[in-house]
Amino acid sequence: MKLSSNSLLTINELSKNEILQLIELGIKLKQNSKTDKHIDSMKNKTMVMIFQKPSTRTRISFELSMLQLGGNVVSLSHNDLQLALGESIEDTAKTLSIYSDIIVARVYEHKHLELLASNSNVPVINGLSNTFHPCQILADFMTIKEHKKNLQNIKIVWIGDCTNVCNSLIYGCSKLGINMSIATPKGYEPKSDVIKESQKYIEIEISENPLNVINNADVIMTDTFISIHNLNDQKERTQKFLPTYRVNNSLMKKANKDAIFLHCLPAKRGYEVTNSVLDGKQSVIWNEVENRLYMQKALLLSLFNL
Ligand code: CP
Ligand code: NVA
Repeated sequence: MKLSSNSLLTINELSKNEILQLIELGIKLKQNSKTDKHIDSMKNKTMVMIFQKPSTRTRISFELSMLQLGGNVVSLSHNDLQLALGESIEDTAKTLSIYSDIIVARVYEHKHLELLASNSNVPVINGLSNTFHPCQILADFMTIKEHKKNLQNIKIVWIGDCTNVCNSLIYGCSKLGINMSIATPKGYEPKSDVIKESQKYIEIEISENPLNVINNADVIMTDTFISIHNLNDQKERTQKFLPTYRVNNSLMKKANKDAIFLHCLPAKRGYEVTNSVLDGKQSVIWNEVENRLYMQKALLLSLFNL
């Protein structure tokens, strides 16, 4: 498959069919990981990664994907680049697209990613912005498909801060036709234009009370309420979210018996979720981590039609 979009900045650039095909390819790559016939697919291709923020999973899974597909990787933090001393994003994009075949960037402002993409001749992938985290959600859909066997007729519930991960989940659900329920305090709702656009395709229930949305949940998801770009608001956010929006065993018991729990990680253990849920039987967090690798591979192969 060749993706119709040259870049991946939000999930909205993908069609339903493309998302489903990426999930299938990710699952296939995982099943055949020992006999991978794509071993040289990215030979002579180079990926440049730029990180304005720290990363464990995104960086390692992208680097390993590229290396395991036979390609090369250069990873740089913001401070390694002239960007840190004021070189423009436009000139950086033009330079990187001369040297590389694909750019992955983790940034603060989503508009900087758009600027990078509009000035680049090679595909740009969003490795997380303050607003979206599409690669995470693609891997999460793969995880949900593995555990629930289908992506139809499932109830997905998001509890807590409506982060970049949540915004991408909403776009993904709107593409796949999955209704969503969200419990979050007033003022911390998902991006309003994401909600408005997605409500054309799915129903989105938003409540301040997790108990109003948890019934019949098949999938419960959350994220830290202190995202990297919110590190200065720790005190205010902790007061706002705790204890109501901490996912604990008593909340999990109100969901379906076979419900699964997802968290993109890193988790702030004991804050948005208890250790007993994170490490409990319903948690699939380590599958999510593993699936990041296969979904990055699926993405790379599909961007280049390999
Ligand atoms: N989930 C995720 O993107 O993790 P990192 O911040 O470690 O990359
Ligand atoms: N919402 C979190 C996700 C980290 C993967 C953050 O932006 O820090």
